[in-house]
Amino acid sequence: MRHSRLHLFVVLIFVLQSFSAFAVKKSYVVYLGEHSHKPDVTVNDLHKVTNSHYQLLSTCLGREDAKDSIFYSYTRHINGFAAVLDEAEAEAISKHPEVISVFLNQGRKLHTTHSWNFLGLEKDGVIPSDSIWAKARFGEDTIIANLDTGVWPESPSFNDEGMGPVPSKWKGICQIDNKAGILCNRKLIGARYFNRGYETVAGSLNASLSSPRDSDGHGTHTLSTAGGSFVPAANVFGYGNGTAKGGSPKARVAAYKVCWPPVDGGECFDADVMAGFDAAIADGVDVISMSLGGDPSDYFKDGLSIGSFHAVKKGIVVVASAGNSGPAAATVSNISPWMLTVGASSIDREFNSYVSLGNKLHLKGESLSPTALPKHKSYPLIGAVAAKEANATVHDAELCQAGTLDPKKVKGKILVCLRGVNARVDKGQQAAHAGAVGMILANDESTGNEVIADAHVLPASHITYKDGVAVFAYMNSTKSPTAYITRVRMELGTKPAPVMAAFSSRGPNTITPEILKPDITAPGVSIIAAYTQATGPTGQSYDKRRVLFNTESGTSMSCPHVSGIVGLLKTLHPDWSPSAIKSAIMTSARTRDNKDEPMLDSTSNAETTPFSYGAGQVRPNRAMDPGLVYDLTTKDYLNFLCAMGYNETSIRKFSDRSYKCPKSYSLLDFNYPSITVPHLTHRTTVTRRVKNVGASGTYRAVVKSPAGISVKVDPVKLEFKERGEEKTFKVTLKSKTAKAATDHVFGSLLWTDDRHYVRSPIVVKSA
Ligand SMILES: *[C@@H]1O[C@H](CO)[C@@H](O)[C@H](O)[C@H]1NC(C)=O
Ligand SMILES: *[C@@H]1O[C@H](CO)[C@@H](O)[C@H](O)[C@H]1NC(C)=O
Ligand SMILES: *[C@@H]1O[C@H](CO)[C@@H](O)[C@H](O)[C@H]1NC(C)=O
Ligand SMILES: *[C@@H]1O[C@H](CO)[C@@H](O)[C@H](O)[C@H]1NC(C)=O
Ligand SMILES: *[C@@H]1O[C@H](CO)[C@@H](O)[C@H](O)[C@H]1NC(C)=O
Repeated sequence: MRHSRLHLFVVLIFVLQSFSAFAVKKSYVVYLGEHSHKPDVTVNDLHKVTNSHYQLLSTCLGREDAKDSIFYSYTRHINGFAAVLDEAEAEAISKHPEVISVFLNQGRKLHTTHSWNFLGLEKDGVIPSDSIWAKARFGEDTIIANLDTGVWPESPSFNDEGMGPVPSKWKGICQIDNKAGILCNRKLIGARYFNRGYETVAGSLNASLSSPRDSDGHGTHTLSTAGGSFVPAANVFGYGNGTAKGGSPKARVAAYKVCWPPVDGGECFDADVMAGFDAAIADGVDVISMSLGGDPSDYFKDGLSIGSFHAVKKGIVVVASAGNSGPAAATVSNISPWMLTVGASSIDREFNSYVSLGNKLHLKGESLSPTALPKHKSYPLIGAVAAKEANATVHDAELCQAGTLDPKKVKGKILVCLRGVNARVDKGQQAAHAGAVGMILANDESTGNEVIADAHVLPASHITYKDGVAVFAYMNSTKSPTAYITRVRMELGTKPAPVMAAFSSRGPNTITPEILKPDITAPGVSIIAAYTQATGPTGQSYDKRRVLFNTESGTSMSCPHVSGIVGLLKTLHPDWSPSAIKSAIMTSARTRDNKDEPMLDSTSNAETTPFSYGAGQVRPNRAMDPGLVYDLTTKDYLNFLCAMGYNETSIRKFSDRSYKCPKSYSLLDFNYPSITVPHLTHRTTVTRRVKNVGASGTYRAVVKSPAGISVKVDPVKLEFKERGEEKTFKVTLKSKTAKAATDHVFGSLLWTDDRHYVRSPIVVKSA
């Protein structure tokens, strides 16, 4: 209902604007639903589709040359096209009966390898027999696609040593052929690029960039995290030395480059992302990893949501990053119920660099600076505000922004900079540029306890907010403060871990509050993985260093961890649906840390909630054998859209020509592996259905009630005689008091046969 109203509002604005028709041309996606090609679709059939798109546009606009404005025709699975139009034209075509939606080609943003050890897949380089790696043959022959900034094909992580012939189901191509010959192999089996949507916004790219080659580093890092081969003696400046590998080290990987150098509005545009999805589905991939996103919007006006729906319908699992807009609430992106949305948390490894102050205080920080200060001598310490250029503002200077620091004041000293606005590594560069010998990078209050090991260009240490306050207090207390920064030392076994990263985007879901997002969390802080040779480890143009491996932090890094785990589950259970795999990952997750205490939030150092971690920290060895799954079919997703108020005619075009919206369908009954009741009035009952994917057995319900809420499960026992059997149950939630808390409260529902623990978070807010 909410949507149809919104739609009306938009149309009104359109009408008003078309009076002052300035005819500004922009690129749009015109979405028509899905194709129903026969399996033996020919090139000729695809041409016919393209021609029908030309015709539709020409008829709509009443001119022959209309087809010239089309720059993509989606012909495989997604039906639609992308075209440069003015607003009046976009409005006209949106009225055509075949059209589901017309939306702007929006820009999105991009959001070692000890993490596998931390997740229990290996232990000190040895793979235990109960590891999913052993059982799932390292993800053998699963095909993982990555929609990102492309790939550096020469990276050792894409070596194809010991790999057999490319699986026959693969239909993709390799567009990296420059002069050196085709650079794909039996590991990196495909590489394509899509930039026409970007070029309509940013202008033509330098021809040398028109390739799937990764000039940024992000795509190489994420793809190798999901499916990189084994690479012995991988390290960053000697730190973290070990064997690098992805989650599915024996999977095949394919890069779909849809992200380009950032311009106003973003770096990955909807029209290109949709072209990437359409190609990847047709190419025969099993998993699509997507570490990018933007503000959530209407499901039918979001290329990421549309593309991923068509992929999931074909049995492909789509894993997406939650975004890096935390710790504020309601910041999570990629909220479609058919995506598996991943938040980011820390691992139990630190790259420590201690700060010793002149007052004998020792503070633990992190860094990956390859250089160290000359041995044990104290250096004068200065805050960036005291070191500012006369023309700079206090705020710009405290952040150590370019051109704000006075070299005369900084030279030979350790400079204290505040986190925020410009890149952490850029602050180090500005400090070095002004002549500092070292940098202390202090968190602000919102980033709290989250410290990150970056490859700074000078000796540096990133410290917590609390420690930063101690540094400032010390500087205030004396005329000539001094400090020393120790050489970086790797330490394992950090406790507590995981801790939720401050940057990880949080729920609630702003489009459909009945669906908890993110779904899961995985390692995303200081992750070592492969990198491009086109740029230095800080990604800044002044950084002339080149590294084969680099550390990066973000939900962009946690997303491919889960994609790699999905690759393993696909090898192990080729017949499981995307939602069964997602359910297995969610219901087997853990909400406690390595001290066996509730997971903390690095912002506040307090207990965190499902709004940051969803079902919890991914636990791959448990996901292999979840016992029960909450399965979903395409029909369930369509019912979900009906309940959201989408028009039945549009839903039919979207997926299933004969589909009928049910008479009544509650979003609360959507068979999701988590339970969220955003407006509890007195009493609410939700329905769920579980499918047995294990042996026969009896499961009983164990409830942890949210504060002030009573929870009744009916029945409390479920008996399964055979595999594949499904059982339905109801959960009734009731406010215990007349005047219930209006804040969110959290609990859980667990089904157990004493061998399996099938856990779902419960999130409730009283109306
Ligand atoms: C395009 O890129 C090439 C190689 O990086 C460079 O030599 C050339 O100057 C660039 N051209 C433009 C117009 O930027
Ligand atoms: C990394 O480890 C390998 C094997 O243990 C060793 O040969 C190599 O020298 C190490 N490299 C660094 C930089 O420590
Ligand atoms: C301030 O002045 C310095 C040197 O005179 C200059 O390099 C810098 O760009 C200026 N900064 C700002 C913020 O205008
Ligand atoms: C240090 O002194 C400055 C300026 O007087 C003040 O704003 C700041 O709050 C002080 N910081 C601490 C931690 O005492
Ligand atoms: C759905 O949309 C179509 C075309 O946009 C319209 O003709 C139809 O009346 C709508 N149906 C409902 C039930 O609103």
